[in-house]
Amino acid sequence: MAAGAARRMEDLKARIREADRAYYVLDNPILSDAEYDRLMRELLALEEEHPALATPDSPTRRVSGEPAEKFAKVAHREPMLSLANVVSDEELDEFDARVHRLLDLPPDGAVEYVCEPKLDGLAVELVYVGGELVEGSTRGDGSVGEDVSANLRTVGGLGANAGVLPRLRGASPARLEVRGEVLLQKEHFEAMNRLLARQGEPLFANPRNAAAGSLRQLDRRVTAARPLSFIAYEALGPGAPTWATHSAKLAALAALGFATNPENRICAGIAAVKRWKDEMADRRFSLPYDTDGLVVKVNDLDLQRRLGAASKFPRWAVAFKYPPQEETTRVERIWASVGRTGVLTPVAEVTPVRLGGATVSRATLHNEDELRRKDVRIGDMVLIRRAGEVIPEVVKSIPERRTGAEREFAFPDRCPECGARVVREEGEKVYRCTGAACPAQLVGRLTHFAQRRALDVDGLGEAVAAALVANGHVKDFADLYALPAATWEEMEIAETKAGSTVKLGVPRARRIREALERSRTAVLRRLLFALGIPQVGEATAATLARHFGSLPRFLGATEEELLGVRDVGPETAREIRAWVEEPQNRHVMRKLAEAGVDPAPEEAPRGGAFAGKTVVLTGGLTGLSRDDAKAAIERRGGKVSGSVSRKTDLVVEGQDAGSKAAKARELGVRIVGEEEFLRMLAEPGA
Ligand code: IVH
Repeated sequence: MAAGAARRMEDLKARIREADRAYYVLDNPILSDAEYDRLMRELLALEEEHPALATPDSPTRRVSGEPAEKFAKVAHREPMLSLANVVSDEELDEFDARVHRLLDLPPDGAVEYVCEPKLDGLAVELVYVGGELVEGSTRGDGSVGEDVSANLRTVGGLGANAGVLPRLRGASPARLEVRGEVLLQKEHFEAMNRLLARQGEPLFANPRNAAAGSLRQLDRRVTAARPLSFIAYEALGPGAPTWATHSAKLAALAALGFATNPENRICAGIAAVKRWKDEMADRRFSLPYDTDGLVVKVNDLDLQRRLGAASKFPRWAVAFKYPPQEETTRVERIWASVGRTGVLTPVAEVTPVRLGGATVSRATLHNEDELRRKDVRIGDMVLIRRAGEVIPEVVKSIPERRTGAEREFAFPDRCPECGARVVREEGEKVYRCTGAACPAQLVGRLTHFAQRRALDVDGLGEAVAAALVANGHVKDFADLYALPAATWEEMEIAETKAGSTVKLGVPRARRIREALERSRTAVLRRLLFALGIPQVGEATAATLARHFGSLPRFLGATEEELLGVRDVGPETAREIRAWVEEPQNRHVMRKLAEAGVDPAPEEAPRGGAFAGKTVVLTGGLTGLSRDDAKAAIERRGGKVSGSVSRKTDLVVEGQDAGSKAAKARELGVRIVGEEEFLRMLAEPGA
């Protein structure tokens, strides 16, 4: 039994040491913090169970991170300790109870704490003698750190606040040791990795490693080029002032010119700490830097002194750690998921792990470039991360943990959902499926088809499109025209995201069917845009429609003919041909023709009486319905508004018009009757 435990303990120690080296010396982690904490906890438990087997060199008794050989060593006058972790309300209560017990305080008296975000950077010490910075060092193993003075001098602060000061502002005590965290803000981290990627350099896994890697450079110019920040949270030294509280000390640090964290809070009692911790659980994601927890410190410095420290941790502080947002796990499979816009996203299916309080079995790889850059292979151990509500992502692969059985993922050239060709458009990062009837994209395609700027099927929005696809009523655009009235009316539509549904009902169904009816003869450019052909946006659709004039001529155009169209380049010509030739798309076009979709010949270019004008309709028109009048104005580039204001260009006055016409007269807006309106609609160029 003991022999088994001893073996396991040796194994754990070896793995922890290897991970420490990767993390502290190489700035390139091979374990997630969570996995590391688990190994540590297991080792601690074994040492408690078998005290005779515990060795003094155990990582549970030493602060990890021996100083690297490349830097001169600096002994810290006072050791730089680590913090004990707690992960639950119960453990916070235990910490508070221990503080009360050790101080002999009545259990119901609240102890005041300062809560500080646990900054995910690296701890450093700055030594000021007579107000001048004489030395700066990393924590190292807690007793001895690395001399990074020259590099530290290049470190900035937070926002408008100063960072590492070469000289203290105001008072200058004989010797002052200022401690705090050097970190890299999230946006700078991302910018830096983008730059490294462009230079073909290996990327950093997270801002902490990036900050550590940037600070621990032999060439301080490299450090200077990285926008690091220093936030101060501790001051000590033989001649240092004797503050009464930690919060007074923080205020003094700010007065000396240092950036302190504006998120620090004083909490009266552990209940207030727990409330603040819960509030920060989400808010922390909107902070400009990474934080994985809250450091809870006894505020009264006299009480801190009485509590003292154990070998590795102070007894007056503890770190609350939020559920891990980062984990190591294995990639079991990689596949391309087809989104609503037809974009293929590589997704890693991973061995399920707990992440941020939920079980995660998938993580996105974003796109092919990212996948290649991170060199993620099937079978790889990877670091995955989730920040707040966003979907988990693969941060990096861990090539150090490969066995040789890993395989690279080949991006498919056919859509996994429908088999249509997959294209990567020029200047785009993503691959897109070109199938017009691809089920995965159908909802997105239907809403695009129906949007105002396309075929303007009023009432057919995302909720209706989703219901049509879910019920299997619609497999492509053409099916919309074949759906019987009763099917529309009875259709159940999701009313809210929560899942309650309502029937579409008669009026809404009628509105959609009437709009569909009108869309059959909409102008060609609207249909060409509505089809969602790669590279064919609104402007290109209009050019193509003007050039070819009719749908059959467009569909029959050769690549050369397409190249003859103004603004159509080789890429677009190729894409259009490939789209038209795709069997799935040919089928849809045939069905649309059978459904009576017959686009009107292209209208003359805009610029008539309605282009860019805001029009208000009031009173009843005899010659056409209000919807038709509205559509006619919009087709001519105008906008129809419900109320008259100074911005109104024109009011169309029908029968029994009321207050709107009166208001228009008052404001001096031009008013026309129905006859005049019809004449304007018929005007050439309108
Ligand atoms: S106080 C003895 N305050 O956490 C007190 N540390 O696990 C220890 N850290 O090495 C330092 N944010 O790198 C303190 N607001 C904060 C902190 C913080 C992050 C890090 C620091 C330290 C480690 C201890």
